[in-house]
Amino acid sequence: MEIRPLKIEDYEIILRLWDKAGLPYKPRGRDSYEEMKRQMENDPDLFLGVEEDGKLIGVIIATYDGRKGWLNRIAVDPAYRGRGIGLMLTRAGEEALRKRGAKIIALLVERSNQASLNLARQAGYVVARDILYLTKRESEEV
Ligand SMILES: CC(C)(COP(=O)(O)OP(=O)(O)OC[C@H]1O[C@@H](n2cnc3c(N)ncnc32)[C@H](O)[C@@H]1OP(=O)(O)O)[C@@H](O)C(=O)NCCC(=O)NCCS
Repeated sequence: MEIRPLKIEDYEIILRLWDKAGLPYKPRGRDSYEEMKRQMENDPDLFLGVEEDGKLIGVIIATYDGRKGWLNRIAVDPAYRGRGIGLMLTRAGEEALRKRGAKIIALLVERSNQASLNLARQAGYVVARDILYLTKRESEEV
């Protein structure tokens, strides 16, 4: 098993993995081919995948806004879950963000997503119960 940077050539495989994992994403917004290509070119170190026997079985996208690091879109192929791959990806994303200078790392998890919540807690994250997530969107697709 190895962690490697993701390339835009992986785009279709990444989408298939997100579909298989049941992860919601925005194929006409920030997860479109053009957007992902632009983001990967800007931050090649922050798009990471786990491969086993040449097969991509997990991904994570880290983002750094200059103040804070974020972990996004983590997904592990259902056939490979419960083997520590989610934790491994989380740590790899954190390491990449720390190299960028991030001293605080955050992530958003839906309240009902127990697996992700447990994973985050296991990785040392603390839930901020009094914070609400507010957004302003150009459309539901972005
Ligand atoms: C969340 C996800 C990435 C976890 O991947 P994984 O490789 O199975 O996770 P790991 O094996 O590294 O598990 C680490 C810890 O997470 C927690 N965890 C993982 N799966 C869990 C489950 N089904 N139920 C409860 N806790 C779970 C456990 O605390 C686990 O530690 P343990 O094995 O010592 O109990 C995977 O379930 C997934 O792809 N889910 C769908 C996509 C998704 O919801 N992404 C997150 C969006 S915020």
